[in-house]
Amino acid sequence: MRKTEVKNFFTNGGLWPDTNGIHINAHGGGILYHEDLYWWFGEHKTPGTAGNRAYIGVHVYSSPDLHEWKDEGVALKVDPETSDSLISAGAIIERPKVLYNKLTRQFVMYFHLEPTGCGYSSAMSGIAVSSNPAGPYRFIRAVRPNKGFWPQNVKPEQMNADSITKALENTAKIENCSNPHTPEMNILGRDLPIGQQARDMTLFLDDDGKAYHIYSSEHNSTLHIAELTPDFLDYSGRYWRAFEHRWMEAPVIFKNKGRYFMIASDCTGWAPNAPRLATADHISGPWRELGNPVRGTTEQQNTTFRSQGTFALQLDDANIIFMADRWNPTNAIDGRYIWLPVKFEHDVPYLEWQENPYLENVPFMSELAG
Ligand code: GAL
Repeated sequence: MRKTEVKNFFTNGGLWPDTNGIHINAHGGGILYHEDLYWWFGEHKTPGTAGNRAYIGVHVYSSPDLHEWKDEGVALKVDPETSDSLISAGAIIERPKVLYNKLTRQFVMYFHLEPTGCGYSSAMSGIAVSSNPAGPYRFIRAVRPNKGFWPQNVKPEQMNADSITKALENTAKIENCSNPHTPEMNILGRDLPIGQQARDMTLFLDDDGKAYHIYSSEHNSTLHIAELTPDFLDYSGRYWRAFEHRWMEAPVIFKNKGRYFMIASDCTGWAPNAPRLATADHISGPWRELGNPVRGTTEQQNTTFRSQGTFALQLDDANIIFMADRWNPTNAIDGRYIWLPVKFEHDVPYLEWQENPYLENVPFMSELAG
């Protein structure tokens, strides 16, 4: 790694200026490493509460060192507000993530999409492609994943027609967070003919080249882990349910010594909550919860350092950065970033507060300060 003259250290929760001196605008983001550069994609937010919706699109920045970020512009632009496009200005476009597909040499972006005027009721996945990392990305479609496919771990009672009918009758009662009635409702069966709901999400590329879209489904009550086709442009139809009725959002996935780990949040909207760590031997599960990964004050444990996870940047097997957002829902553009190295004790990951992640503990990063 080349040594860089470090001018401004990024301070967790502070402003993080790009090379033009403007606070980075890439919220709910993720990072792709491609040909010696890091590409950071995220939601471009605008001022005020309206800024939580997409009026610009998905912003992208590039960096050789994870420290200095160059503004590469808008990777995926929204269409004019007056258009009938599914991604017109005012839509909700959240948590964009990009993978590079070696077979097609295309960059594939997935994001959570709620077309304008639908609130959070559509629960779709948007898919866009580009032949360049910076874009422009072409929006190809929005889908409800896995229409007509039962998950690999479906239970016999979920395939029962009576329970599907009952779920249809009860649809009005279902809310998108902490609804105690979801165990009695067969939301999976209800959505089989139209495709499953997909809200908070991430993408994960495994060592064997297979890619997965992991999203909060069934009104956010249960997470789905869905395999993508080899070109990453669609769902293969193979998917698994995990964390049934646990309301897991903001999934962040990484791998260490061949084991899969997930840090996810609870379902409390923009308000931060306590994170949950889980592990599995296979991406498809079964997943086992391991409690709260935060070491620190009660406040830090209960709020994930006043943030919510968005992505794990896996530098190598042991160096992993947990990226999170400190949302500012009343002035969305002023959301801040929290990056913490994932630490391990006896092969179990944990998170600890660091004011400045560049100067401490991550060997790769502290080298930059040298
Ligand atoms: C959060 C979610 C965010 C956004 C927000 C809206 O739970 O993680 O991505 O959807 O709710 O209230």
